Amino acid sequence: MANKHDHHNQSSRRLILVLYFTSVVGIGFVAAFLFLSSSSSSSNLSFTAVSSILVPVNRPEIQIPKRSKQTNDTKDHVRLLSATFADIPAPELHWEQMQSAPVPRLDGYSVQIQNLLYVFSGYGSLDYVHSHVDVFNFTDNKWCARFDTPKEMANSHLGIVTDGRYVYVVSGQLGPQCRGPTSRSFVLDSVTKTWLEFPSLPAPRYAPATQIWRGRLHVIGGSKENRNAVAFDHWSIAVKDGKALGEWREEVPIPRGGPHRACVVANDKLLVIGGQEGDFMAKPNSTIFKCSRRREIFNGEVYMMDEETKWKMMPPMPKNNSHIESAWIIVNNSIVIVGGTTDWHPVTKRLVLVGEIFRFQLDTLTWSVIGRLPFRVKTAMAGFWNGYLYFTSGQRDRGPDNPQPGKVIGEMWRTKLKF
Ligand SMILES: *[C@@H]1O[C@H](CO)[C@@H](O)[C@H](O)[C@H]1NC(C)=O
Ligand SMILES: *[C@@H]1O[C@H](CO)[C@@H](O)[C@H](O)[C@H]1NC(C)=O
Ligand SMILES: *[C@@H]1O[C@H](CO)[C@@H](O)[C@H](O)[C@H]1NC(C)=O
Ligand SMILES: *[C@@H]1O[C@H](CO)[C@@H](O)[C@H](O)[C@H]1NC(C)=O
Ligand SMILES: *[C@@H]1O[C@H](CO)[C@@H](O)[C@H](O)[C@H]1NC(C)=O
Repeated sequence: MANKHDHHNQSSRRLILVLYFTSVVGIGFVAAFLFLSSSSSSSNLSFTAVSSILVPVNRPEIQIPKRSKQTNDTKDHVRLLSATFADIPAPELHWEQMQSAPVPRLDGYSVQIQNLLYVFSGYGSLDYVHSHVDVFNFTDNKWCARFDTPKEMANSHLGIVTDGRYVYVVSGQLGPQCRGPTSRSFVLDSVTKTWLEFPSLPAPRYAPATQIWRGRLHVIGGSKENRNAVAFDHWSIAVKDGKALGEWREEVPIPRGGPHRACVVANDKLLVIGGQEGDFMAKPNSTIFKCSRRREIFNGEVYMMDEETKWKMMPPMPKNNSHIESAWIIVNNSIVIVGGTTDWHPVTKRLVLVGEIFRFQLDTLTWSVIGRLPFRVKTAMAGFWNGYLYFTSGQRDRGPDNPQPGKVIGEMWRTKLKF
């Protein structure tokens, strides 16, 4: 069963006035990047305090190449505008801001069970991780509960899925910065709010794709022990009512591995969408496991497994996209994905966040862009209730003209969704 449920809205009262976004990002936007690239000199990941939250500035470790005097600016602008970091034109949606989550979160994880969105752990800042669950009630639009996670449970980069009552939390990173992973796994009984033990994953993984498919919990890819190396392994274990029925077994490895992907079961098929290869890793010998940037390659590929239990490729996302593991919902035979992070900017070498809402139609196997978020944001957590698409938390951009990662937020927004 998928971990986001399909709730049709039978009582849509208003039609949303859909205005088409008619302008693409202009030359001035690109010029701003060129300016930023020439003014940047730091060679390490560094942090700047924004509203008392420490936020990564994502200064690249690699040296930014100096632009040669021969560069033809006009040609550069044309090339840059067509690159994947540019916003894709999208219909305009009306957004409504709701009550913010009790804490801001980066790399938080969520599951929706009926009218409740359970939001797990994540970073408050790179030096502080949460160890609790916050619960949002879609019926009265209030954050209504908070309870702790087990001490040994990962705080970020975990695999997560629910069967509608039990929430399986698999492996992930324990602690702040770029600390090591744990293979320990746990199950939350959402009815009694108690935690159960679960067999550890055969090896620790960061942000593996995780789903329940045909009675088995599947855990796919992720990053290996050093946080950066790509894992291709695919394990599964039979589960029922929050308990393992056997032991982990090996399944067909995924052709492209890596962390931070959306993993969805729809129409009895297992889908793995987007993601990346490589991730920040701890500086050698750093006593606080300080994160330092490594090469990351993003992808928008879609892998599907059906009864043949072979991986097949499906049409890719309109953009390479990562950090979307809890940023999806299923509604009316479509997968909807909000935000994410895409290819580094070719000139500034900064991370570029994604603000589009993507729709994958499971009948026609086609992707489209159906709207835009109020800002670009990665590691947002999405839910769907009574005709509304909700998202909360993550790390947002620095403004409409600057898609670099900015503030870590707890904001919650919703919009009426109608295909
Ligand atoms: C830059 O390229 C444009 C278009 O190809 C061309 O018209 C222009 O003369 C070039 N400028 C320089 C300085 O090379
Ligand atoms: C959610 O809100 C509804 C409406 O106020 C209420 O009846 C229900 O008990 C709430 N659920 C939880 C778990 O708080
Ligand atoms: C890390 O520490 C080890 C042992 O003290 C040392 O051999 C190694 O050179 C250090 N590495 C770096 C990158 O400082
Ligand atoms: C996605 O990433 C791949 C590999 O880095 C690259 O070849 C491709 O141009 C990127 N963009 C899109 C839209 O696929
Ligand atoms: C899904 O289908 C139902 C029934 O046709 C419709 O009322 C609802 O608006 C649709 N949802 C979306 C997001 O289009």
